[in-house]
Amino acid sequence: MNIMGKVTAIVLAAGKGNRMHSEIPKQYLEVYNKPILYYALHSFEQSQVDNIVLVTRQEDIAYCKEQIIDKYGIQKVTDIVQGGEERYWSVYNGLKTCRETGYVLIHDSARPCIGIGRINEMIEEVVRIGACTFGVPVKDTIKVVNEDGYGIDTPPRRYLWQIQTPQAFIYKDLVRAYEKMREDCTTDITDDTMIVERYLHQNTKVIQGDYSNIKVTTPDDLDAVLNFFKKNKKSC
Ligand code: CTP
Ligand code: MG
Repeated sequence: MNIMGKVTAIVLAAGKGNRMHSEIPKQYLEVYNKPILYYALHSFEQSQVDNIVLVTRQEDIAYCKEQIIDKYGIQKVTDIVQGGEERYWSVYNGLKTCRETGYVLIHDSARPCIGIGRINEMIEEVVRIGACTFGVPVKDTIKVVNEDGYGIDTPPRRYLWQIQTPQAFIYKDLVRAYEKMREDCTTDITDDTMIVERYLHQNTKVIQGDYSNIKVTTPDDLDAVLNFFKKNKKSC
């Protein structure tokens, strides 16, 4: 691999987890006695990334450092930075701390089932082709539904993919896209591939990943994560 510069993972954990309706943010709920955030950090620690930037809420920085990073001996975390009100501001704060890097992988800590092999595969791809993301083909028919609850369009399923994280970019490109986004008053951004599409007019390669790389969003998702770790006998 002709790697130009360091590879940094930005792990996002600054959300409030409103849809989970739990007392503590979902990334700190425990699965097999460890907080959900631990699992993504562990996978990146074991991967070929050079360092990890963790983004959390200000009030959780000490907890993350003491109860996760130090406790489980995670050594690649070089910075813990404060997140923003929206996911994209959390990413932006993470990006600002890694000026010397060549590539960034952005990952939602709410996806604890990401495998080490997949992370390494993504590093190879971003070095080879630039912007890329994991995704899976949708299994259901997807409809556009209007405000009255009527389906008004059915896009052909063969073109529809569910997009996941990690997502990887050439660092300078993503920063350039974010700088353009900052000049715009936008609120509808849900991931970083949208930012490079909109502001750099760049397409992102979608690499087929795993259906098991679920995002913990609502309480039902926790059962799926538990089953995944049970089946895969992940070290606990
Ligand atoms: N995230 C973040 N900063 C934010 C919002 C989200 O770092 N301001 C992170 C979350 O911690 C999560 C990931 O981005 O790991 C994906 O976001 P999502 O699943 O939407 O999590 P939450 O925003 O926490 O949940 P909800 O939308 O239900 O409130
Ligand atoms: Mg959210």
